[in-house]
Amino acid sequence: MTIAQRNSLQAIPAYKQGATPGKHEQAFKLSSNENPFPPLAAVTASLASELGAINEYPNAAAPELVGMLAERFNVAPETIALGAGSVEVAGQLIHATTNPGDEVMFAWRSFEAYPILTHVAGATPVKVPLDASGAHDLEAMAAAITDRTALIFICNPNNPTGTVVDAAAVDAFMAKVPAHVLVVIDEAYVHFNVHGDSAIGLDFFHRYPNVAVLHTFSKAYGLAGLRIGYAIAPPAVAQNLRKTAIPFGVTAIAQRAAVLSLENEPELQVRIDELIEERTTLVAALRGAGVELEDSHANFIWLNTGERTSAVDASLRAAGIWGRAFPGEGIRISIGSAEANKLVASAVIEALLESPAHV
Ligand SMILES: Cc1ncc(COP(=O)(O)O)c(C=O)c1O
Repeated sequence: MTIAQRNSLQAIPAYKQGATPGKHEQAFKLSSNENPFPPLAAVTASLASELGAINEYPNAAAPELVGMLAERFNVAPETIALGAGSVEVAGQLIHATTNPGDEVMFAWRSFEAYPILTHVAGATPVKVPLDASGAHDLEAMAAAITDRTALIFICNPNNPTGTVVDAAAVDAFMAKVPAHVLVVIDEAYVHFNVHGDSAIGLDFFHRYPNVAVLHTFSKAYGLAGLRIGYAIAPPAVAQNLRKTAIPFGVTAIAQRAAVLSLENEPELQVRIDELIEERTTLVAALRGAGVELEDSHANFIWLNTGERTSAVDASLRAAGIWGRAFPGEGIRISIGSAEANKLVASAVIEALLESPAHV
């Protein structure tokens, strides 16, 4: 006798984590866009003292962190809603805005979790293909809006292609979005985006009543393992995000680490600048050798390997590079340490250009 379960889950793929090399393998894990730097010394030193209080629940309102974020972004504290990683907040956004069968739109390919979270919430995902350069096709997205559309994600920069949306194009898009539809600008990689024409989520949040922004401490701030992210959303939405959140999902340690990270932003900025420089060097090395790829504005690059993806991925793994392959489409490789990036350059050139017979 099988146990009764929700039928629709059979059709939903489980979220697939970026692959990790075995312990004894000489390899770099560049599959999850993690920060290659160790946590800040100020963060690790202070967290030890928090451990003595883990017998208590955290303060779910996280007043210190919320206060700092509100001040930093010049928003009211009630617009901020925290979650155990921005992926949890993305799920909350879907739960907070959709009724069963409502549509959640996003570009595709984009962040893997969007369709899964949408299905789990009982809503319907609407995937609008990226354009040929891997960028959001905002005109096609506007044309795909129906009377069931409840929520639209714009991933900027886009995971996995690294492209950005232009501020002017988002303004033109917003003119076509009905006022009751929430547009979420997911800025998980915003710190690595130095493109002058890019849309800036907070700017849109301040100018449109139906825009929310999604931020995380996982990437530029290097706190992926502690799970903390947040939305800045219209107050009525933020209130419903708190209702749909799992109680006490954000630990006191995560809150403290986030506060310390904000206090130590200059030190983090040095690391961010270094990663951006590494990205520039890597892209230049690949292009110099004849590899074609788009500019990336995030902490990863995207190789448009199409049908050759699985073979190229196998060659890269043999060389010690564990990226994230999407069979039939391409491979995303995170920017790692300088040593890792050098190996990425040589391994990609070898796999794509020097031994193409193998791929
Ligand atoms: C676009 C995007 N949004 C959100 C997330 C979620 O990150 P986290 O839950 O660690 O904050 C990710 C993680 O890879 C991402 O790529």
